[in-house]
Amino acid sequence: MSARLTIALLCSMVGAATAQCGRSDHPNCAMWNRNVNFCTNEARPLAVRQAYCPVMCGNLGCPNPNAPTTTTTTAAPGTTCAKWAADATKPFCANPDLTVEQKTQICGTTCDFETKPNADCVLYTVTDGKLTRGTPSNRTAGPAKAVSSGAVATTKTTLARAYAGTGCTVGLFPDLAPADLTKPAASLVGTATAHFFPVPDQSNAALSYTCTCV
Ligand SMILES: *[C@@H]1O[C@H](CO)[C@@H](O)[C@H](O)[C@H]1NC(C)=O
Repeated sequence: MSARLTIALLCSMVGAATAQCGRSDHPNCAMWNRNVNFCTNEARPLAVRQAYCPVMCGNLGCPNPNAPTTTTTTAAPGTTCAKWAADATKPFCANPDLTVEQKTQICGTTCDFETKPNADCVLYTVTDGKLTRGTPSNRTAGPAKAVSSGAVATTKTTLARAYAGTGCTVGLFPDLAPADLTKPAASLVGTATAHFFPVPDQSNAALSYTCTCV
């Protein structure tokens, strides 16, 4: 599904006053704002700016998507949720800008893990532009142990996103059996308020990861 259609569908589910406000920003917002002052550029209709960059452009009267919401939202159909969840550019369930409440109200069944995580860490892979949640894993008791990440070179399956529970760290390693588990190539640290992270480009093909928690 195109980003434009996703935005249109998401907008059709929220209240009329801010109906054109997207629920999170398009990945290019920062660049657009640098290049053409997107947030204040009246050459573009307000509705377009609200749809594409509601969070970064705090000047457009859009609700803060990180605030707890009591807006009445209608649940989206399962097939729609599955498409949104698999959107590698703007994955619904793994979107750090949406609240648990929003994910629960709109796509609670599809986002079952993300709304009620029953494990400490998970990686999301992308194959042919489709995002898939991998097998969740829990912290290891005792010394960290690396487990397979789900990246597969032959199918061009790469790591795109990670979930880390509060106080848990996803450590990414290029090798399947890393020699030194204390030196990951990248570390993604979950806090009470941040759980979903993009995987840094240099670790997209990392073959193993550790899940450690304090
Ligand atoms: C992780 O631990 C929870 C209990 O804390 C358990 O319900 C869940 O099945 C475990 N998940 C995995 C992948 O081991």
